[in-house]
Parts: sequence; C-alpha cells; structure tokens
Amino acid sequence: MFAAKNLCRFLNQSIRNLSSVSNNSASISQAKFFNKGFISSNILERYNFDCGASSRFQHDFSTYISNKNQKNRIIKTRNYSKQGIENLFNKERVLQVNWDDKNTCDYPYVFLRENCQCSQCFHSDVKTRIIDTVDEVDINIQPKHSELIDNKVKITWPDNHVSLFESKWLKDRIFPKTNQNILRQNTFNLSKVKWDKAMIAKQLPTVLYKELFSDDDAKIKVIESLITHGICLIKDGAKQSGLLYEMAKLISMGYIKKTHYGDIFTVKNKANPNNLAYTSRSLPLHSDLGFLSYSPELQFLHCIEQSDGENSGVNLFMDGFNAIDKFKKENRKGYDVLTEVKFQYFDVGTDDFGEFHMALERPVIGFDSFGEYEHFMINNVIRDSYINAPTEKILEAYEAYYAICKIIRAEENILKLKLNPGDIIAFNNKRVLHGRTSYDATKTTRWLEGCYFDWDEVHSKYRVLKAKKK
Ligand SMILES: [Fe+2]
Ligand SMILES: [Zn+2]
Repeated sequence: MFAAKNLCRFLNQSIRNLSSVSNNSASISQAKFFNKGFISSNILERYNFDCGASSRFQHDFSTYISNKNQKNRIIKTRNYSKQGIENLFNKERVLQVNWDDKNTCDYPYVFLRENCQCSQCFHSDVKTRIIDTVDEVDINIQPKHSELIDNKVKITWPDNHVSLFESKWLKDRIFPKTNQNILRQNTFNLSKVKWDKAMIAKQLPTVLYKELFSDDDAKIKVIESLITHGICLIKDGAKQSGLLYEMAKLISMGYIKKTHYGDIFTVKNKANPNNLAYTSRSLPLHSDLGFLSYSPELQFLHCIEQSDGENSGVNLFMDGFNAIDKFKKENRKGYDVLTEVKFQYFDVGTDDFGEFHMALERPVIGFDSFGEYEHFMINNVIRDSYINAPTEKILEAYEAYYAICKIIRAEENILKLKLNPGDIIAFNNKRVLHGRTSYDATKTTRWLEGCYFDWDEVHSKYRVLKAKKK
C-alpha cells in the first residue's frame, strides 16, 4: 500500500514535469529531458486512468466552465479523432500545437491570450471579445503553464488567469504556412470556373425555383454557382411581380440592396425613360451602376413577360474575368493600361424623389485585397466624356479599350439566353457582363423585374445553410 502511494506520488511529480510546461527554465528543461519538450496527451490519459486524476482536472476546470456546460461535461478519453492533439511545445513567443493527423501550427501567446474564451474575456451571447487587447494584454506575454488535458489546451498566465482552448477551436484557426497559402475565406475554397459560350452552354448551373423551398442544397447550389461560374438560372418560378422579394429570403437575408432605382426595378419600355434599359433598344454588354462606390455585386432578373420573336429580347451574358485572362495573354500592355487609367462613370437624371447626379472614377479592371479580379467595369453608355489622365495615356487607354471590346463582342464568348416567363437569371454584376437584343415594343411586350444583392448577405446565408448541414 505504502509502495503504491509512493509510486503514485512519483508518477504525479513526473507527470507534472512532463505535462505542465512552465516558462520557469528548470521546469522546461525537466520537460525537455523527459519528453523532448513536448507535452503528450497519451501520458496524461494514462495518468488520469491510473491515478484517478480526472477529479483534480475537473476541479481545475470548474473555474472557467460555465455552470450550464458543467453538468454535461464529461472528461473523455482520447479517441484519436481528426482533431486529436498529439502534443504541445513551448517556443520563444508561440505555442506549437501538433495534431495526430500531422497538422501543426504555431500560435502566438498574445493571440491566445487575447482570444481567451472565458466569460471574463469573451461574451458568449454576443460572441465577441470583451477584453481590451492593447490595454490588458502584454504583447510579450508568456504562459506560466501550458497543459494538454483531455484534448484541450489549458494555459495559465502569469496573473493566474486560465484559458482553455478546444482542439477544434484551434484547428479552425490554423494559420496559412506561407503567404502563398493564403486563401480568401469568403470564397469558401471554391475555385472560379471561367467560361466561354461553348463551356457554359454545356454546364449552365440551373435549379428549379420550387426546389429552393424544399431543399437547402438547391439554395447552396445557387450561391456556389454564383461564386464559381458567376451565373445561375432558376427556372419555372411564378410569372408574377414581386417574386424577387421571395428570392431575398431564400438566398440572402430577406432584404434587397436598394439604389436610387429602388429595390425592385421594372425593366419595361417606358414613356419617359431615365435609363436605356427602360426602352426597347438593344443593350450592349455592360456592368450596372459603376458610378457607385459600392456598385451592386449580384443582380437578379426575373422574366414576367417575354417578347415574341426568336431574336428579340434575348439576354446576353459574357464572363468578364475570362475575357480579362485572354486579354492579359494577348496584350499585356493593354491589360496594364486598363488596370491603371481611371474612367469616370456617371448617372444624371430625375426620379420621383428629385434630381440625381452620381459619379465615380475607376479603372476597367479592379482587384481586391487578395490580388484577384474584383470588377470588370465596362459600360459604354455611362462612361463619361471626362478621363482623368494625360493625353498619351488616354490614347493608350482607347487602344486597350478597343482591343478588349473585340474579345467581349466575339460570338464565341457570349451566352445567348432567351428567358421564359417565370425564369430568374442570377449573375455576378461585377464579373459577368449582361446585355440584350432589341424588341419591337409596338408589336410585343417584354417585362422583367430586377434587383441587386451584395455578397456580404449572400455569404452569410451560405455560412448559415452550410452550418445547418453539419
Ligand atoms: Fe443592366
Ligand atoms: Zn479569459
């Protein structure tokens, strides 16, 4: 009995040396001596089992596990799941976490301290940080102890504040290994599929309107298609006005992006039009509202009545990002010019609310903070006669503009689509140019309704839908 107690005491001490990495150099060297500086969960589990230490850990945890969670809390034995942490290693300013699937990541101590998930540091209802990082966290903070317990990382800080991080929480926040590995999170690792007419004719993403009500996968498909192809056809909706308000609930957050054209705009031949779209004329391929700093990112057009005649009122679509790729290969100088010279776009007119005068300068090709194409602004109608550049640059810009318009107008790049009444076509307004052929308003009627959305709300919907499927 005595021997067993002593053995347990010895194990207890050894395990403390192994599992509690202290920044006290003696403890670190002990840990290094026993286990090359790593804190292994295997040893901890054996210790839990042999010496009945779970209750001690449970006691320690009680300070930072809310009462609500505590009654459900069971200290589980390690199951070597995909989130299983193999060991930890204290480095100079970072904690190295190694998972048993060979993933590894160095987490700066300042990052771990400011992201402590306890109720003093993080508001669990609002789900936001409540400590003031700069005031309350020393940028050079070092942990007093780092421990791996039950697949969680427990850190005791110099002021004895305790932080506990779930393995999954850490794994969801693994940093990219290099700058080259940085991926844009908003595209959810979905790659863009750039297309020409032949490609999109074979694989135009399509869903049935009624599927959107019964199946989250259909809503996910619409959003994913907008991310990958920049276009999606939603077929067989009702032929009645206002259907786009339903779309707002299905693929966004229930509201439409409002502009000075309203929320839902009516595309019909009108008596006193304030936009070329409100005539029966053909519309060359273009992007909408480039005169707004936050020009609409997504556009939905719902066909309620369609004009008669095979070639009248046909919608045209063209993948602008594919056109830029082609142009960059053919004409590098022209490409550079179109990324640099800013054209001015404008919109002047009168509506129910009074007069308006919108104006903005931007290059034809724009990039986001990840260096990817953000917009392709072609709109010959609203491109102003003022160009903010020296004459020689203007001539270069005209040459580049003529050259890229050749690609845009090539038949092989244009999808022609005559919508049936009830159909909705959704597209990325900043990527996919749209236009239409003319129709004879004296003989036939054509009635579309349109609206805009922004990615923020649609991405939000996507995250919510995907989380429900997990
Ligand atoms: Fe338009
Ligand atoms: Zn905390």
